Amino acid sequence: TSALPTGYAIRPIQKSDKQGVLDVLAVLTTVGDISNESWDDRFDYISKHDDTYTILCITDEAGKVCATGSLIVERKFIRNCGLVGHIEDIAVAKEQQGKKLGLRMIQALDSIAEASGCYKSILDCSESNQGFYEKCGFKLAGVEMAHYY
Ligand code: ACO
Repeated sequence: TSALPTGYAIRPIQKSDKQGVLDVLAVLTTVGDISNESWDDRFDYISKHDDTYTILCITDEAGKVCATGSLIVERKFIRNCGLVGHIEDIAVAKEQQGKKLGLRMIQALDSIAEASGCYKSILDCSESNQGFYEKCGFKLAGVEMAHYY
C-alpha cells in the first residue's frame, strides 16, 4: 500500500469533522445546507451501524480534512449469505489531488472490506475517473444505471 505524505493521517470521521468533511464532499457533488442537528443525527446512525458503515478521512499536517471516502457492507443471501463492499463518495480536496490520497483512501476501504469478509467491492464512477480506479486495481464490470426520484 502507498504511504501518506509526512504528517498526514487516515482515521474514521468524528462528529467534530462536520465542516471539514462537508467542504471536501463539495468537490464531488451538491452537499446542501446541512444543519448541525442533521449532521449529528446521520453521524449517530452511522456510528450505531458501524458493522455496515465505515467513513474515513485523511487529515493534513495541520489536522485539516483533505479527503474522505465511505464503505457500505451489504449482506446478501446469494453466495452463501455473502457480503459485498460498496465504495462510495470518494473525494479529495482540489488542492490536495495528485498526492495519492485517493489511492490511499481506496486501499484503506478495500482492506476493511476484505477483512470484513466481503468477496468483492464495487463502485460506480464517471468515465473520467475510470483510469483512477484501474490504478487502484478495479476492473470495468457492467453498466451503471440510475433512476432519480
Ligand atoms: N483519470 C486517470 N487517472 C487518474 C485520475 C483520473 N481522473 N485521477 C488520478 N489518476 C491517477 C493518478 O495519476 C495516479 O497515477 P500514478 O500512480 O500513475 O501516478 C493514480 O491515479 C492515483 O491518483 P491519486 O493521486 O491517488 O488521485 P487523487 O488523490 O487526486 O484522487 C480522485 C482521485 C478521488 C478522483 C480525486 O481527483 C477527486 O476527488 N476528484 C473529484 C471527486 C470525484 O470525482 N470522486 C470520485 C467519485 S466516484 C466514487 O466516489 C465511487
